[in-house]
Amino acid sequence: MRIAVLPSSNEIATLVADMYSELLAKKPNAVLGLATGSSPVPVYDELVRRYEAGDISFADARAFLLDEYVGLPVDHPEGYRNFIERVFAGRVNFAPDAVVGPNGQADDVEAAASEYQEQMESAGWVDLQILGIGTDGHIAFNEPGGSLTSPVHTQVLTKQTREDNARFFDGDISKVPSLALTQGLETISHAKKIVLVAEGKQKAEAVAQMVEGGVSALWPATVLQFHNDVTIMVDERAASELKLIDHYRAVWDAQ
Ligand code: F6R
Repeated sequence: MRIAVLPSSNEIATLVADMYSELLAKKPNAVLGLATGSSPVPVYDELVRRYEAGDISFADARAFLLDEYVGLPVDHPEGYRNFIERVFAGRVNFAPDAVVGPNGQADDVEAAASEYQEQMESAGWVDLQILGIGTDGHIAFNEPGGSLTSPVHTQVLTKQTREDNARFFDGDISKVPSLALTQGLETISHAKKIVLVAEGKQKAEAVAQMVEGGVSALWPATVLQFHNDVTIMVDERAASELKLIDHYRAVWDAQ
């Protein structure tokens, strides 16, 4: 893992957008992995800025979302397909149907999970995946206590995740769905390159466990220790519980 401790979300957004820009310059038909939630929003704003400046194009790219709530109405603004359309996809030039997510409205969600895994495999998996991390150490919606080798699957959300996400649902946890469809940890591990972004003190314990903890179902993000191309970009507060922080700074500065 490469760890970058950066002063603010501006620097994080610039460096992650550089990774997307470099990929698309080399491979215009790249497969992008998109996360929802608040962490990647500054990255998406920066990518939109570059698109509007004519520096980057998504015309030939495809994108897969990490996850989707199960049971929200198709037009619910917090459905992740709608969220990504609003904050990113609808603001750049993806082709129609180029951005897809798991089908949280399917009658048979287990079948929808398998179909999504197959769709990703047929696309040759993701070239560059952006991730956030939950305060309980989840990536996508892989909650603690699950398999470290799961494909796309249905996931019961923890109380902590539903509390954290209640801010998107008028602060009312009862409005946050309790079930989601999510890429599994095995699905995510197929991504050729991964960048995870985290900001704020509330992420510090999860970040320290992910980078320095023992690999365990208790902290699902620890599975990223097995991936050979992961960059973690964090602000000072999210980095504040890392024991080897001085070493990570030295390694980052040396590259
Ligand atoms: C979203 C997702 C989640 C979030 C995580 C952090 O697609 O997969 O793992 O990345 O819950 O959410 P924020 O960024 O809102 O703190």
